[in-house]
Amino acid sequence: MTTKSLIIPAAGSGSRMQKETPKPFLELSGATILEHTVRQFLSLDGLVQVVVATSDEYLSHANTILDKVLPEDVKGYSVSGGDERQDSIRNALAVLPDVDLVMIHDAVRPFVEAKRIVECCKEAQRSGAAILGVPAKDTIKRVDDSQFVEETPDRNFLWQAQTPQVFHKNVIVKAFEKAKRDRFSGTDDASLVEYLGRKVRIVKGSQTNFKITYPLDLDIARMLIEKKTG
Ligand code: CTP
Ligand code: MG
Repeated sequence: MTTKSLIIPAAGSGSRMQKETPKPFLELSGATILEHTVRQFLSLDGLVQVVVATSDEYLSHANTILDKVLPEDVKGYSVSGGDERQDSIRNALAVLPDVDLVMIHDAVRPFVEAKRIVECCKEAQRSGAAILGVPAKDTIKRVDDSQFVEETPDRNFLWQAQTPQVFHKNVIVKAFEKAKRDRFSGTDDASLVEYLGRKVRIVKGSQTNFKITYPLDLDIARMLIEKKTG
């Protein structure tokens, strides 16, 4: 059995959501989004640790959630996040134990399905790096500074990256070390592994695993939870 650690970045300010409370701590049917998200991972074999990165103000709230939901044999930690998501992950990587796989999953994707997490972990175990993603449904345009279209890449080769993004421990640790040395920044974790020169495999996920980003996403999340819980 492969041992696994789960890192959950939850330290963002949620500027696009425009709410006082950061997104992971907003409630959906009586529980925080963070709690719903962590629960999706609890049936996974080999889970030994969950690390949540939050702003200092929310560290104790995150600990309370972890104490409530984690079984005794899974260790929970919360660590201070950083200015960028990448900084938050870096702080979480600093407390990693000796594990085979590191899963990184956004706090604000509470609808990820357990069977997809398992598929992604299996692929990461085989190839070193695997992420969930879905084929782009819209045509994507690359634009210049003045919003003129420069290029329309063939949609058949475009995928939207989701999380979890899962890596052999040594792969993600090396990728973060190289990114720091070279001051490389990316908007997801896989891009740091790509920069390291390693191949990353995409495992097909589902539209359900969307990232709660805008107020409309929160409305959709509420509808989905109500449908699930009746
Ligand atoms: N995140 C983080 N540390 C940061 C920025 C983001 O841990 N410095 C986390 C968020 O809390 C979220 C995940 O990374 O769980 C995905 O980020 P995103 O959806 O962009 O959230 P925010 O950055 O909070 O939102 P926005 O970009 O609208 O400000
Ligand atoms: Mg953000």
